[in-house]
Amino acid sequence: MTDTRDRIEVLHGVNLDMLGEREELHYGTLTLADLHAQIAVWATELGLQVSFFQTNAEFEYVERLHSLRGQVAAVILNPGAWTHYAYAIHDALELTGLPAVEVHLSNVQSREPWRRLSVIGDLCLATYAGKGPEGYRLALARLREALDEARP
Ligand code: DQA
Repeated sequence: MTDTRDRIEVLHGVNLDMLGEREELHYGTLTLADLHAQIAVWATELGLQVSFFQTNAEFEYVERLHSLRGQVAAVILNPGAWTHYAYAIHDALELTGLPAVEVHLSNVQSREPWRRLSVIGDLCLATYAGKGPEGYRLALARLREALDEARP
């Protein structure tokens, strides 16, 4: 049985399954599978076990968050466009009580004005945006730090 204290899930939301076909300028060329493989390498380096989830259905994203209570120590979220308006995801994340970090591949602050609002930002320890895949490495490192601090 693995120790839940080192377990992290990365939750990708709507349209992120299309990475590799989306605008290269904002999202680069990696597919979601490539990105997951890269994140897994970084997680191992940090002594973390990582799992991945992606859906285009908001209710599945919410239900996945519900199911993670007691199963993982922390979460990394890139909810895609839901970030900007899906209050149900805010509430689901809040009820998990899990440490969370928000990541966006693109620089949401310098794109259309509607992308500047994040409905989950207030629940997250940090937000990394506009750094491409590197944002996930920073998120893992931030959570490693938080988990180490929380350890008795
Ligand atoms: C995104 C940014 C969102 O505004 C957008 O809707 C996405 C991806 C990102 O990773 O840059 O789908 O979350």
